[in-house]
Amino acid sequence: MADLRIVVVGAGRVSRELAPAWQRAGHDILHVVSRTAQSAQPLGEALGCSWSTTLTDAAGALSDAEVVVMAVTDGLIAEINAALTDMVSPSCLLVHVSGATPLDHLRQPSAVVWPIRSFNAKAGSVPLAKTPTVLEASDDRAMALAHTLASAWDADVSEVSGEQRAVSHLAAAVADNFANHMFAEAQDLLEQRNLPKTLLRNLVLGLTQGGLQGDARERQTGPAQRGDDGTLERHRALLPDDVKDLYDAVTAHIIHRHSS
Ligand SMILES: NC(=O)c1ccc[n+]([C@@H]2O[C@H](COP(=O)([O-])OP(=O)(O)OC[C@H]3O[C@@H](n4cnc5c(N)ncnc54)[C@H](OP(=O)(O)O)[C@@H]3O)[C@@H](O)[C@H]2O)c1
Repeated sequence: MADLRIVVVGAGRVSRELAPAWQRAGHDILHVVSRTAQSAQPLGEALGCSWSTTLTDAAGALSDAEVVVMAVTDGLIAEINAALTDMVSPSCLLVHVSGATPLDHLRQPSAVVWPIRSFNAKAGSVPLAKTPTVLEASDDRAMALAHTLASAWDADVSEVSGEQRAVSHLAAAVADNFANHMFAEAQDLLEQRNLPKTLLRNLVLGLTQGGLQGDARERQTGPAQRGDDGTLERHRALLPDDVKDLYDAVTAHIIHRHSS
């Protein structure tokens, strides 16, 4: 299945990567709607399609669309879904790309296509191709269309239930947001002592192998895993006050997991 007629709502970080990928895969991006011209116009022009800042101005494209992708802030998905319901054909698939937002409140047919990757100004060096992508859909046809959308980046797809997607999103937040926060804190410690913030880069390469191969638990090292109380105390003496609670909580958790 190819050559879908797609309208994209939202011209932010995700749309700026996914809409060109769908176009390269042969789909027809009919129109881009976003909140402001500052984002709608450049994406519309880059895709060579019409653009607008209201759904009303997109009415013609919406009535012709086979797929409408809502790539907006999670809190707006329900509102856009409600506004779109009478503007699209009954068979038009409504899609959102959020890991955390339930699907069951959306008008059907509907689907989630959630690429598990960070989309941000620095994400360009991480390829979109083969990104693990979670699919959830209201019915079989919607799932087939979700597969077609994800095939634009040759995604490594998993069909999931709503609960499995919620847990996947939790896992992504713990792994990516927490780990990145730890790196940011570690880099602050280095910077405060005039050390290069890239000092840890080979540790990072090893660390990512655990994420890539699924064996992070077996790769755990360090004083908490070893039960090296003397080193833990020396670390605590060096910590800024506002990092002590974080250090203690994570240390206690590592000791707990590795104590049996
Ligand atoms: N960023 C990620 O790493 C990532 C990864 C996977 C999934 N997602 C999901 O992707 C979705 C979009 O995230 P994002 O990071 O692309 O957000 P974003 O960069 O903040 O972009 C949101 C876009 O929605 C537009 N918008 C806001 N209100 C609107 C309205 N009423 N009508 C039409 N457009 C409106 C904004 O317009 P303006 O530009 O004019 O303000 C902006 O272009 C979310 O559901 C998120 O959970 C994000």
